[in-house]
Amino acid sequence: MGTTGTHNHEIYDVVGIGFGPSNLSLAIALEEHRANVPEHPVKAAFFERQPAFGWHRNMLLPSTTMQISFLKDLATFRNPVSRFSFVSYLHAAGRLVQFVNNQDFFPTRQEFHQYLEWAASGLADRVSYGSEVTAIRPAQDSGSGIPEHLRLEVRDAAGGVRQVRARNVTISTGLVPRMPAGVARDERVWHSSEFLEKFHGLDPHELGSVAVVGAGQSAAEITRFLYDKLPHARVSAVIPSYGYSVADDTPFANQVFDPAAVDEYYFGTDQAREAFWHYHRNTNYSVVDDEVIRDLHQRSYEEEVRGSKRLYFLNLTRVAEVTRNGSDTRLTLNSLLDSEPQELHVDALVFATGYEGMDPARLLGDFDRHFLRDVSGRHRVERDYRLVTATGPSCGIYLQGGTEHTHGLSSSLLSNIAVRSGEIADSIVLRRAEQEQAGARTVEVAGAAGRA
Ligand code: FDA
Ligand code: NAP
Repeated sequence: MGTTGTHNHEIYDVVGIGFGPSNLSLAIALEEHRANVPEHPVKAAFFERQPAFGWHRNMLLPSTTMQISFLKDLATFRNPVSRFSFVSYLHAAGRLVQFVNNQDFFPTRQEFHQYLEWAASGLADRVSYGSEVTAIRPAQDSGSGIPEHLRLEVRDAAGGVRQVRARNVTISTGLVPRMPAGVARDERVWHSSEFLEKFHGLDPHELGSVAVVGAGQSAAEITRFLYDKLPHARVSAVIPSYGYSVADDTPFANQVFDPAAVDEYYFGTDQAREAFWHYHRNTNYSVVDDEVIRDLHQRSYEEEVRGSKRLYFLNLTRVAEVTRNGSDTRLTLNSLLDSEPQELHVDALVFATGYEGMDPARLLGDFDRHFLRDVSGRHRVERDYRLVTATGPSCGIYLQGGTEHTHGLSSSLLSNIAVRSGEIADSIVLRRAEQEQAGARTVEVAGAAGRA
């Protein structure tokens, strides 16, 4: 049975929910902010539900690479001399020279994970791991207005619940795995976000037939991994398109992830925003890196040469139904190339069907009614990533993620986090100064009234 109590009596200037790259980058931006001086520190605390730092650990597949340049790290675009840059990490790890000799802009995900862990360990004093934030509420009942402080409920791994107070919150809880409607996950039916953990939970010899659903980067990487790790198995890729399409990371298209593109998107017309998606969705969604596509095609071609086949691409195909029975999973497949549904039996099935954006409403509960939505029912968000309130700002709820509709394509990615977290840090510091000035004026006026 858990305990309930207050964390301490402190009111933090900002509490970060989640300690993935977004809030890690914010912790660095606050640390490096010129207004964060010892005599008036910005008080920040971060809560992460995982027991230790981890960035998509279940997708840390061998030889997978980053989809951004190493220079788009946690800090460099905001502060090129940050001690938390990827280059600083390489120097500390004794690999800077070899990294340069390697002549590759895109480190492996394993190396980038090591970098993130290294950065997180340098900020360990302000993070509580094994701590899930379950609710954000007003600290005091302020009727219809937005209160000055927020109260967060934090549950630890043992089930204990404590309360934490903050003037500002940054919700950076990441993407949410998406499964097709009506399909339940279990020990044989997985989402890509849980892939390695589930895969290692089974004996590979039990996996004589496996299938992967989807045509994005996760699907292609998992298909290649299963093919290489299970040399005895039939591997079926269930692909909604007619084969994998390449992720456009060529220089002009890549500009959609530039810091400047955020302003053009945010202040643009509806038509301009639509054009971003229409022309450039293929920089990120339902697309695959050229190298992984070529790897898969090469494996398939080698099978043709050898005359033995176990890698199958089921094009223009979607899953209509999944039926489970013990270790057997039966798929009913609808192909646009076939008038009749097909059946496939597998020992494990992976849905690499992508993610939903982050939705702050889950943590806000009833409190969410204070925040305005647009005509499509999506949260309105200020340029500084704060939720728009009906009654004007007091405390601030900032979003890192969940802002594709307002801030554009880089919202759920790493591309812009150094700059974004700098903008959020600036906003928190500026609003703190304004609130302090307003507080000082109130005291002065009260003092003058007392003397009159
Ligand atoms: P992220 O999901 O990383 O972190 C959120 C954290 O919040 C998690 O640690 C979670 O445990 C924690 N959390 C959630 N709810 C909580 C709660 N209630 N209380 C406490 N903690 C909570 N992008 C890119 O630009 N380049 C790339 O190379 C890649 N590569 C990549 C690989 C894979 C496999 C995926 C799935 C995604 C990518 N991405 C990417 C996109 C990805 O969204 C991005 O890399 C970051 O993970 C975004 O960082 P965040 O901190 O916002 O979310
Ligand atoms: P994604 O790009 O959204 O792709 C999801 C795929 O699943 C699409 O092909 C989609 O098809 C398909 N799909 C969705 N619902 C389906 C359904 N009901 N039935 C059949 N197919 C369905 O997701 P992702 O591949 O997980 O990538 C997500 C993010 O993670 C991207 O930013 C990606 O770059 C990143 N990532 C990076 C790395 C890396 O850095 N190495 C690795 C993996 C992922 P439709 O197009 O028809 O919807």
